[in-house]
Amino acid sequence: MQQPNGLPDEIDLSRPSAARVYDYFLGGAHNFEIDRKLAEQIAAMTPNLPATMRAGREFLRRAVRALLDAGVDQFLDIGSGIPTVGNVHEVAQAANPKARVVYVDIDPVAVAHSRELLAGNDLTGVIHADLRDPERILAEARRLGLLDFDRPLGILLAGVVHFVPDADRPGDILATLRAAAAPGSHLVISHSTFEDQPQEMLDAQRLSARTATEISLRSRAEITGFFGDWTLLEPGVVHMELWRPDSPSEVAADAQRFGAFGGVARNDRPAG
Ligand SMILES: C[S@@+](CC[C@H](N)C(=O)[O-])C[C@H]1O[C@@H](n2cnc3c(N)ncnc32)[C@H](O)[C@@H]1O
Repeated sequence: MQQPNGLPDEIDLSRPSAARVYDYFLGGAHNFEIDRKLAEQIAAMTPNLPATMRAGREFLRRAVRALLDAGVDQFLDIGSGIPTVGNVHEVAQAANPKARVVYVDIDPVAVAHSRELLAGNDLTGVIHADLRDPERILAEARRLGLLDFDRPLGILLAGVVHFVPDADRPGDILATLRAAAAPGSHLVISHSTFEDQPQEMLDAQRLSARTATEISLRSRAEITGFFGDWTLLEPGVVHMELWRPDSPSEVAADAQRFGAFGGVARNDRPAG
């Protein structure tokens, strides 16, 4: 069943959606009045948040470009949200029109909007799945037939691993994903941290721990551990803005203000 605007019936447009609020912060067009109202309220409470989201998106764009430069032409983007402004398939297909992208998200609203947005783009696919079930993600991705797991793959985990608490064993999840990727594959991670953060930010995080969207802040060492034995590319795991900025002179002195580290690593394991 579909609503007049083409969205499936299970998408409730009378309530705000986190995915559409995020889309609004990024300047996307896939949001409604009710989402914009909530976005304005959130922005009033946490003025840094929209800039943080944009910085995360910019990091992802630079990382995807670096992977394209390294010859990667297929991407598994987990926790993709609504593929909005500067989304991965646009960045990738601008550089390589044959690039393939499979988007994965747990949020049915993000998935429905993604399907609507990507209808007609044969080189992209959308999977509704949970990062905490990586075997299912890999099985569904294989079933879609868009990605070739015998060739280098870009696995993108931008702003999502911090939604997986330690009790759900994120290290094991990452190991499963890495094990499925051929030599020459790359892993991109951005992840919230408590390192270098002021007390107010940590207090706010403690409050958010009482809501449904609890975030696990982790240290640089823990985040680095998610790359396993893959080779970290320069400059390593750093505050997002410091990862290969387009114009190094424009990076703010307080690059730690977004409270998230970013890094990219390559699978140099010999084939076989
Ligand atoms: C902060 S947004 C990041 C969006 C995009 N990757 C980016 O960097 O712009 C986090 C996304 O992760 C999704 N997410 C949260 N937990 C997830 C899980 N366990 N499995 C899959 N996706 C998840 C949310 O629905 C949301 O769309």
